[in-house]
Amino acid sequence: MSVRLFLIYARARNGVIGNHGTMPWHIPADLKRFKRLTIGKPMIMGRKTFESLPGLLPSRRHIVLTRDSRWSAEGAEVAHSPEEALALAGGGGAAVIGGAAVIGGAEIYALFMARAERIEMTEVHGDYPGDTFMPAPGPEWRLVAREDHAQEGAVPAFSFLTLERAR
Ligand SMILES: NC(=O)c1ccc[n+]([C@@H]2O[C@H](COP(=O)([O-])OP(=O)(O)OC[C@H]3O[C@@H](n4cnc5c(N)ncnc54)[C@H](OP(=O)(O)O)[C@@H]3O)[C@@H](O)[C@H]2O)c1
Repeated sequence: MSVRLFLIYARARNGVIGNHGTMPWHIPADLKRFKRLTIGKPMIMGRKTFESLPGLLPSRRHIVLTRDSRWSAEGAEVAHSPEEALALAGGGGAAVIGGAAVIGGAEIYALFMARAERIEMTEVHGDYPGDTFMPAPGPEWRLVAREDHAQEGAVPAFSFLTLERAR
């Protein structure tokens, strides 16, 4: 059985998701939601996103895509193709039941978008300077849940959106 996938990302109004290897905002509630939605699940990510993490995230597998046959890092399961990443993610019953999280960045979302059944998106209500972008979800996605949060101090307004593939 192939593993079920969801994409999880935060995206600004102008499409920015990253700038110089980091995220251009700090939204504590978004980090909490990310943890809640990924805990216990295999995570698939690009090598650049792996290297942008503060360290290994507890209780989650880190499946890292790279084309570099010599690359390795403690705690990372290395994959050299999307198929290899999927095979790793699907190994183990829990992965098949709970699905795997595709956690970025833009190159890796593009690789798996067509295979994902759900997007957990944080829409950040502002325009940010950046160098990494995601397109807005197309008509093949329908909104099934939305939770709006107002701006609070330095934390911008944002919305948690769940999108499912329209059948
Ligand atoms: N806002 C959000 O939710 C969010 C989430 C995640 C990341 N980000 C941001 O996004 C940025 C990073 O994104 P990115 O698109 O530049 O990089 P990325 O997707 O994280 O990683 C790209 C790397 O993945 C590997 N790769 C790509 N396609 C591959 C393939 N077909 N087979 C094997 N390996 C492959 C390559 O690694 P090698 O170069 O090693 O070969 C490539 O350089 C950062 O700024 C980060 O902070 C934002």
